[in-house]
Amino acid sequence: MPSVVKINVLTVPEEMRRELEKRFANRAGMVESADGFEWFELLRPVEGSDRYLVYTRWRSEEDFRRWQESRAFQAGHAQAAAEAGTQGHGHGQAQAQAQGQAQGHGHGHGQGPAATGSELWTFEVVESTGPKQDG
Ligand code: HEM
Repeated sequence: MPSVVKINVLTVPEEMRRELEKRFANRAGMVESADGFEWFELLRPVEGSDRYLVYTRWRSEEDFRRWQESRAFQAGHAQAAAEAGTQGHGHGQAQAQAQGQAQGHGHGHGQGPAATGSELWTFEVVESTGPKQDG
């Protein structure tokens, strides 16, 4: 089965870039322990775009879905949820919290939402390679 790439596309206004990067720098670090998790990168736009890419790769769609339903996803988005000013339970709520943050409903104590929008892209890995191994 090919690995699955899930990219969360966050639209981040210029003045919120530093805040978003700070939040990811302080991220929970729980996704690393998720079953089937393979890779994570936060990609900063460098030419004319205001969209950051949160790149994740998973062994399968099912592994991703289990993480998105998990407490680790909630914990990984706790700050985002706090900014959205709602404490809730379960995935729908976690996603809604993260979206709440995205849609600018933040009235928490921080700087409010770092992203003004989010979109999820899904890809399957067809070909991949890394640097040639010596020996
Ligand atoms: C819908 C809206 C979403 C928003 C606004 C959002 C925003 C954020 C923010 C600001 C953080 C940094 C930690 C925090 O401030 O809580 C974070 C963590 C993270 N997000 Fe999202 N996120 C969303 C959904 C998703 C989705 C669908 C994915 C899957 C590709 C994803 C992948 C991640 C990962 C891997 C982390 C690090 C978690 C950890 O360290 O355990 N996010 N997100």
